[in-house]
Amino acid sequence: MQRRPRRNRKSESVRSLVEETSLSVKDLIFPLFLIDGSKKKSEVSSMPGIFRFSQDLMLKEIEECMKLGISAFDVFPAYPESLKDSRATESHNPETFYLRALREIKKQFPEICLMSDVAMDPYSSDGHDGLVKNGKILNDETLEILGRMSLAQADAGVDILGPSDMMDGRVGFIRNVLDENGFADTSIMSYTAKYASAFYGPFRDALDSAPKFGDKKTYQMNPANSKEALIEADLDMEEGADFLMVKPALSYLDIIKLLSDNYPVPVAAYNVSGEYSMVKAAAAQGWLDSERAMLEILLSIKRSGAKIILTYFAKEFARLK
Ligand code: PBG
Repeated sequence: MQRRPRRNRKSESVRSLVEETSLSVKDLIFPLFLIDGSKKKSEVSSMPGIFRFSQDLMLKEIEECMKLGISAFDVFPAYPESLKDSRATESHNPETFYLRALREIKKQFPEICLMSDVAMDPYSSDGHDGLVKNGKILNDETLEILGRMSLAQADAGVDILGPSDMMDGRVGFIRNVLDENGFADTSIMSYTAKYASAFYGPFRDALDSAPKFGDKKTYQMNPANSKEALIEADLDMEEGADFLMVKPALSYLDIIKLLSDNYPVPVAAYNVSGEYSMVKAAAAQGWLDSERAMLEILLSIKRSGAKIILTYFAKEFARLK
């Protein structure tokens, strides 16, 4: 035998020399859930170890994460039913608790990378990402609302906007609104290939944002398709997206690879709530080792071509280092 691949695996030191992919806390964005009020912290029952924080405690959480080396955060708000309406009006009320918190976070920690979510669902009485009329999700009418929401978030000091709604044309629309209002430096991480997935279940528990009727299949992508991801990516490139995102991550490693092989902008992957909960649930039964599973999952996402990973494991990973 001339060739023995095992020679390159013979010791830890040799293995680390030939290791192709490495993970750093700098690759990660930590999603955080915000609630109104003060001194509030409640665990998401379907996501052990993940909490909803009121602004004061979220500031403390961010400080703690920064000490562990995490420098990027994506904040999602959980709104009470009483503040929801069909037009997501609360999303661009400058005094709403989400925008106040974003402003305060950026004021206290100007050095962090702060990302926000652009979609109607947390504020919508219909629980959909777009405006609903007669059971249909209206595309172009939704853009106006997303534009207002984006402007309000940019004004609060957000570094990267994350349109997660999947309406056609929203990246270009938002880019124009930002540029016309003096926010040329605000970045857009487009949820480029966001699939209609069962793995968002725990997130919708966390925010109480599940759709009130139907599903999201007329705007989120069909898990059976990959060519459509190229169409979405072409459009996002033309419309000025700074980053392309694939979501979820694990069932879509081929899509991450497809986009990272074909587009020069950084590709991000969202390791979503259900992907986190599956590991935690199995680990709680003693069926697998949570830490090893986490490392393998994050590594596989990076190896497939994601430069950036949004993950609920961020703090746990940072603690290991
Ligand atoms: C909604 C949104 C969702 C997630 C991020 N933004 C859920 C959905 O589309 O229903 C999911 C994140 C996760 O599951 O971790 N615009």
